[in-house]
Amino acid sequence: MKLKSVLMAALISLSFLPTKADEGMWLPLLLGELNEAEMQAMGMRITAQDIYDANNSSIKDAIVHFGGFCTGEMISPEGLLLTNHHCGYGAIQSHSSVENDYLTDGYWAKNKGQELPNEGLYAMFIKYIVDVTDEVLQELPAGVSEEDREKLIQKIGEGFVEQETEGTHYGGYVRSFFNGNQFFMFITETFPDVRLVGAPPSSIGKYGADTDNWMWPRHTGDFSLFRVYMGPDGLPAEYSEDNVPYRPKHHLPISLKGYEPGDFSMVFGFPGRTQEYLPSVAIEQLTAEVNPARIELREEALAIMDKYMRADDEIRIQYASSFASIANYWKKWIGENTGLRESRAIERKRNAEADFRQKVSEMKNFKDEANIFAEYEKLYNKQLPYALARNYYVELGFRMLKTPGYALDWADVVNAKSGEDRDEAIAKLKADLDAHFKNYSELVEHDLWEKLVPFYASQVNDTYLAESLVALKGENMDAKISSMFYDSYITQPQKLKELLEGSPKKVAKKISKDPIYQLSMDMYSAYRSKVYGEYYGIEAELDLLHRRYMKALMAAFPDSTFYPDANSTLRVTYGQVKGFAPKDAVSYQHYTTMDGLVAKYVPGDYEFDLPKRMLELANERNYGQYANENGELPICFIAANHTTGGNSGSPALDADGNLIGLNFDRAWEGTMSDINYDVRRCRNIMVDARYILWTVDVFAGAGYLLDEMTLVRKPVEEPEEAVAE
Ligand code: ARG
Ligand code: ASP
Repeated sequence: MKLKSVLMAALISLSFLPTKADEGMWLPLLLGELNEAEMQAMGMRITAQDIYDANNSSIKDAIVHFGGFCTGEMISPEGLLLTNHHCGYGAIQSHSSVENDYLTDGYWAKNKGQELPNEGLYAMFIKYIVDVTDEVLQELPAGVSEEDREKLIQKIGEGFVEQETEGTHYGGYVRSFFNGNQFFMFITETFPDVRLVGAPPSSIGKYGADTDNWMWPRHTGDFSLFRVYMGPDGLPAEYSEDNVPYRPKHHLPISLKGYEPGDFSMVFGFPGRTQEYLPSVAIEQLTAEVNPARIELREEALAIMDKYMRADDEIRIQYASSFASIANYWKKWIGENTGLRESRAIERKRNAEADFRQKVSEMKNFKDEANIFAEYEKLYNKQLPYALARNYYVELGFRMLKTPGYALDWADVVNAKSGEDRDEAIAKLKADLDAHFKNYSELVEHDLWEKLVPFYASQVNDTYLAESLVALKGENMDAKISSMFYDSYITQPQKLKELLEGSPKKVAKKISKDPIYQLSMDMYSAYRSKVYGEYYGIEAELDLLHRRYMKALMAAFPDSTFYPDANSTLRVTYGQVKGFAPKDAVSYQHYTTMDGLVAKYVPGDYEFDLPKRMLELANERNYGQYANENGELPICFIAANHTTGGNSGSPALDADGNLIGLNFDRAWEGTMSDINYDVRRCRNIMVDARYILWTVDVFAGAGYLLDEMTLVRKPVEEPEEAVAE
């Protein structure tokens, strides 16, 4: 086996990075082959098999896909699960009300009976992974169209999983890697009973909120605790009082030993999506067109929501999750654009592309690929207007406004084929009424319609808009939309409830004439008929280019070790704990402390207020066993581990595989890591395990939870021997 650092030489020239050791999201089952030697050379004291073993218990048995959108890990033999506060946020919000405001005050179950069930939330383990590349390719008929290819692979994958899991309670999926050049099957075990155990107040779990989001230095205690339950027979089971705590095959010991700069660290979890092999033309479009468009639209929406949330506690709770998710990527894209510019990503890509062209033009089988960038340019330019129209519509119609999606549900009533179907559809909507309007405020929705819809209509070319929307354009478009809003039933819960008292026939008739229902449906059909098909047709052509490019790239640089883009599958990423210097004269230390946390305190502030108890404990320096050797309480730290969205809640492990932190974010200068990782400016941000334990134990007085954990302490120093006389 050759050393990766040697293998990397060609790739280094390709992307012009000073070092590649920290880059990459690796498949656990290939670690032995590709990474183990380098990991150990960097200080890791365990083996690849300790991390991933299909047959014996290994660290991977402690890692779960949390609800499909975050990562979580087992930290006790009784199924105790650690993840981020922002990952548990939806669950915490759903149990909160103005009277029992767990978002603001936190929540600590005093015993298992107080742990709160969460419908729809699940914990998924990976049992084992199989390379099925040859098998998939064998089943694919030659000459299949790109659109059919995707669907076929899906079907083939489902068949493989069915065969593999027959007679078991396991599930699974096959995913494509390297843009459709390789395929792996993941066999899964999913537990649907996951209960909320504990959450700190938002003043800890979301400290610094959006001002500090994506920023270093950071002082957020972004963690929450859940517990996985199983049926009495040991199998996954829906929530039931008879369920018992799950017994994982492995749980992570938690280390109080901390870390030094340069120490080995790795993050194990489910990164969602990266695009490290995009051509320069795609990055140009993203930074010049797509990102600015979506940043601007989100800014408008956030300003409206923020105004109401600050004024009204009920609205604050109702919109907490939705605001956080809109704000999150709004800020990320701003950072991404800045980072791509400052790291000269486009220039670097162009140089790399010139190298590639040079290389393949000398290769018999890949000569044609020298022209691939011209093909890319043609397709991306053709796609751009559709990409913009699509982004605007999806953002507005499915993320910011709550009514357009709801109108689609009502279409089942309006378009029902029989009286029976209609009555059934109405009954269903009646039953879901309260759920739909739970996180809904007429005031907020009205302002979003009144301001965002005209904005949308002004930004998108008329060709891609509904004719009825274009007809509303003009001086008092906002006033027109406002009166439509108040003439509508589906925007106003009280009015809708009253309507639902009447006969189903009348309900259907009224809704079919409802102005916001009609406008929503028109906007949707315009999107489907004028944008969707074109956009995805070109996307399929691009997929083929991506696959060809990746294949040629791997052939042109055979001595390089490539890593596949993130695709929500289980990965390991490793590097070193270290600070960074993102620009001239600026340099960051690798960890923050309680002193820095208190220094940010602003009494009564929306983002930087602190609980009184916290200030008292900090003032007394009551850090228990959690202080570092300088007597400080460490709060957050950074490392060069290549992570992305979905890695939130992933454990940060030390050289022995013990948990030293909880991954939750990246530093703003490096949010471009999804497209152009650069170790000089890319850092992931973790909460220090000692701060988590301090919060549970000292701050919240929930130390009983520590009894079930495995803590690893520094060896006690031998007392000096008395000198014999
Ligand atoms: N930026 C982190 C991540 O991408 C944390 C997000 C938490 N949400 C927020 N709006 N503060 O998920
Ligand atoms: N905060 C992100 C998450 O929720 C992690 C990241 O993007 O670095 O997964």
